[in-house]
Amino acid sequence: MNDTVTRRNFLTTASVAAVAATAASSSARAAEAGGPGMLKILGVSCSPRRGMTTAQAVQAALNAAQAVDSRIQTELIDLGGLSIAPWSPKPPEDDMKAILPKFQDPALAGLIVGSPSYFRSLSGLAKCFLERLAPLREPKMVLADKPFGVVAVGAFRNGGQELTIEQIQAILLCYGMIPVGGHAPAFQGATVLSANDSIAQDDLGLKTAAQLGKHVGEVAVKLVGR
Ligand SMILES: Cc1cc2nc3c(=O)[nH]c(=O)nc-3n(C[C@H](O)[C@H](O)[C@H](O)COP(=O)(O)O)c2cc1C
Repeated sequence: MNDTVTRRNFLTTASVAAVAATAASSSARAAEAGGPGMLKILGVSCSPRRGMTTAQAVQAALNAAQAVDSRIQTELIDLGGLSIAPWSPKPPEDDMKAILPKFQDPALAGLIVGSPSYFRSLSGLAKCFLERLAPLREPKMVLADKPFGVVAVGAFRNGGQELTIEQIQAILLCYGMIPVGGHAPAFQGATVLSANDSIAQDDLGLKTAAQLGKHVGEVAVKLVGR
């Protein structure tokens, strides 16, 4: 390889790097402004207790998703304290009305759903919320082909977190979504242990939340193909 070619290669590489840097900074600006190129990842906490351990664990996953790519913007929707009735033939007039449009946003690129384990199962609030996404199935499968991950928090180490994750995965498959586990050790999703209403000491559980969020972010970027 002669010097000229080496220099040309260097210049080409440098210009590609410059273009890539410009594109990255403009997409970062797009993400800040919520403009084109922005990838939105929504987190939903389905504990009736606002701001408690489920919301905190979902936020930990969202933080990891956000760190994957500057175009990713995250938002936590905490259902704690909100009124969300189950699906009914006459659509209930409740807080779901304000939430549903967030899932119709064309920038939505991924979802992280968190539920406490209640009797080794998903919370009633989680079930109501997931049923009420039904308008997003017809006439168009709005959520189809978007990745999702699940976070489950229990007061026992083997308190049904994995069952809770499976139940939520089964529901979101009906929306055409793509289930994503985390990188090890979060194979199925985030399994978090709450002790005295705190997850701060659960290093392993917080790692699963971070690994899940990271993988949802990575898959969201890959699926958008940019
Ligand atoms: C009705 C009810 C049932 C519960 N069942 C379980 C259970 O089966 N397994 C478990 O590990 N924890 C169980 N818990 C404890 C919660 O999963 C745990 O406290 C969780 O952290 C609550 O989430 P939050 O802090 O976001 O409200 C139960 C709590 C309630 C209120």
